[in-house]
Parts: sequence; structure tokens; C-alpha cells
Amino acid sequence: MFLSRRYALRMFLGSLAGTVALGQSCSTNQSSANQSKQNWMADGSSTTPTGETEATLRELASRKGVLYGACAKYPELSSDSEIMVHYARECAVLVPENELKWGELRRSADQFDFRAADWMADFADQQNLLFRGHTLVWNQSIPPWLSDYATPQNAEQLMTDHIKTVMGRYAGRMHSWDVVNEAVQLGQPNHLMQSIWRDRIGPDYIELAFRTAAEADPETMLVFNDNRFEYDSRNAESRRAATLELLGNLKAKGTPIHAFGIQGHLWGHLNHDINYSRYREFLQNVADLGLKILITELDVVDEELPADLNERDRAVAAAYAEYLSVVLDEPAVIAVLTWGLSDRYTWVSSFFPRSDNLPVRPLPLDHNLDRKPAWSAIARAFDQAPQR
Ligand code: G3I
Repeated sequence: MFLSRRYALRMFLGSLAGTVALGQSCSTNQSSANQSKQNWMADGSSTTPTGETEATLRELASRKGVLYGACAKYPELSSDSEIMVHYARECAVLVPENELKWGELRRSADQFDFRAADWMADFADQQNLLFRGHTLVWNQSIPPWLSDYATPQNAEQLMTDHIKTVMGRYAGRMHSWDVVNEAVQLGQPNHLMQSIWRDRIGPDYIELAFRTAAEADPETMLVFNDNRFEYDSRNAESRRAATLELLGNLKAKGTPIHAFGIQGHLWGHLNHDINYSRYREFLQNVADLGLKILITELDVVDEELPADLNERDRAVAAAYAEYLSVVLDEPAVIAVLTWGLSDRYTWVSSFFPRSDNLPVRPLPLDHNLDRKPAWSAIARAFDQAPQR
């Protein structure tokens, strides 16, 4: 229902192929389909029983019925042929980090600039990657003209026209869409984040967005995406409860929400502040609503971790390992997507720079695109995950 026949076939063929012709041979193991478990070494590296090179994250995840992928920015991906190879090899899903947001698509009220998003959609097609959209309705990435342009009289039409136009352009090509992003905010009326859409359409804007999206592209999975659920705090507990209530109410009204996107931005120094039994219960409660779960923006911010590179990498890897061991235990979790693939390009560099100005290291591949302990932790989590 969610994956068109074309994509389902491509995914099957892709998992058989395993390698990618991008002007550089990739040492992926061709017989990944019948590989038994990886032999994990003490240092976190792994080789298959026959000593072949490691499977990729894409292959390890797909063996268990899970999709692994990552976001990328058009300016970085399109200009870096080195990293293109690694996206094509390690990922089954590509997500434009910004190129499908209002701020990047709509520099004016009557113009859409799809060039960057089109390039990324074509790259995904050419490299046998599924493509997912992020995001149609959000209170950020608002172009300057929109705040004045949107009124209580035109906001509904503005939002629904945007959804129809953007989704219509890629209809039939999308694995999933983050229809609404970061809509929950404690302390606000109905626990809804302040936004143009909430204020000028009303609290029903979320249901309207999903119903419009379902008409715009009946083939894609429609996702409600949000964040800040992980830690064992009163705020996170309240956010989990408020979000479950919101999702439950929307589902009870028949709103066509198919999946819940949990962003999963983790903090390396807070690793022990997650109550995993409570978090596991939260995942179960989401699944009990009949929703699939995607971890949509996983990374580990290392700003508060020690400067020592090995120590920092070990702590980041441990955060991935512990989090994913709990998350992948939930059968409703069908995808794990990191917010970037390599430390070479990560939002963390500009949003959470380290006070010692050392380069940040939140992602599976390092700046030179080599696999880190974080890569091994994610790989091992997929390798040891229950089969879907
Ligand atoms: O495109 C403009 C460019 O024209 C201008 O010259 C430049 C300098 O001002 O800014 C560019 O826009 C930037 C955009 O990224 C594209 O690079 C925005 O300023 C900047 O705020 C924006 O940051 C993105 C942020 O979302 C806001 O949209 C980050 O890259 C992106 O990683 C981050 O991702 C979000 C998810 O969408 C939602 N979940 C949280 C996650 C992290 O904040």
C-alpha cells in the first residue's frame, strides 16, 4: 500500500545487487542475502564468517526488514562525488535535509523552486534509493513573505495548495512524507506548537494537512514527525503522553496518519538519562494505535563529550547501540534514518559546535568517510535486531 510496485521491485533488486556503479567499485559483499551473522570484533569492527568485507548498513537493515537511510543537503551531495558513493552504498533511503521545506522551495508567494529537490529525487532514482519528503507543514523554515501573506482567510487554501503542489510533483515516487513536523508543545493550547498554521487555521490544521496529503498522493506513507521524547524527565514524559493523546484523537477521527516519525536526536553526555523500559512502553503504545514507527533524524550530539577522539567515538557509539537495541525491539519500527551520514556534513557543526572548537563527530562515517565505532554500533544493532 505504501510502496508502489515499482519501488518494491527496485528494493528487491537493489538488495540483490548491493553494489552501485558510481565510477568507484564498492567492496560490498555480493552474497549478503545468505550471509549468516557478522563476527563482531572487540574493537567493534566486523567481518563475515568467510572473512569477506562487511555488509553495508543498508544490507544489514534490510535482512531484518528494516530500512536504513540518511538525509543530505543538495549543495553538499551534488558537489561531492566521494560521498555520493557512500550514500548509494550504505543507504536505502534518501531524505532532503532542507530542499522540500517552505524556506527552500518558495522564495516568493507565486514561485516554487524545485531544482534542488528534483536533482535529489533523480539521484535517488538513479542510485536505487527510496526517497522521502521532509516536511510540508512546520513552524520553521518559513520564508519571510509568508508571515504577512498568510491570513485567517487564506491560510487554509495556502497550506492545502502547497501540499497538493509539492506532493503532486513527486506523486508515486515517494516512500513517505513528513506531513506535519514538530507540532507538539507543552503549555500551549491543545499542546500544539505555536505556528502560522495553528493560529490562522486552528487546531484542526493537522487533520486537514493529512487528509489533503492522502488525496495528493495515495501511494505514500504519511508521517507525523516530532522530537524530544527520549529522556527520563518530567517534560519528556509529558511530551510522550501529550503526543500519544494527540495521535490517538487524530486516529479516532479517521485521520490518514500511517506512521509516527521519532526524530531521535540524542545527546552523548545524557546517555544514562534514558529510562529504556518507559521508552519501550512508549513505542508499544504508539504501535498499539496502529501506527508504524520511523526513527527519522537519528544522531548523537557530542558537544559535552570529552575531547579525546577515541573516548568521544566510544560514547557516541554506545548511545547508538543502547538506543537502537531498544528501538529495534519494537516490530512497528520499520526505518532508522540518521540526520546525515558523515561528520563531513552535519547540522551539529553549526547548531551545536564544541566549545573547544574540535570538529564534531555525531554520525556513522567520519570526515574522511571511514566507518567509525558508531557505524559498527548501528550495524551490530541491525544484525542483532529481531526479524520483521
Ligand atoms: O538556503 C539558505 C541560503 O540561501 C542562505 O545563504 C544561508 C545563510 O543564511 O541559509 C540557508 O538556509 C539555511 C538552511 O538550513 C539550508 O542550509 C538556514 O539558514 C538554516 O537555518 C537551515 O538549517 C536547517 C534547519 O533544519 C532549519 O530548517 C538544518 O540544515 C537542518 O539540519 C535542520 O533540520 C531539522 C529538521 O528539519 C527538523 N528536525 C530538527 C532538525 C535539526 O534542527
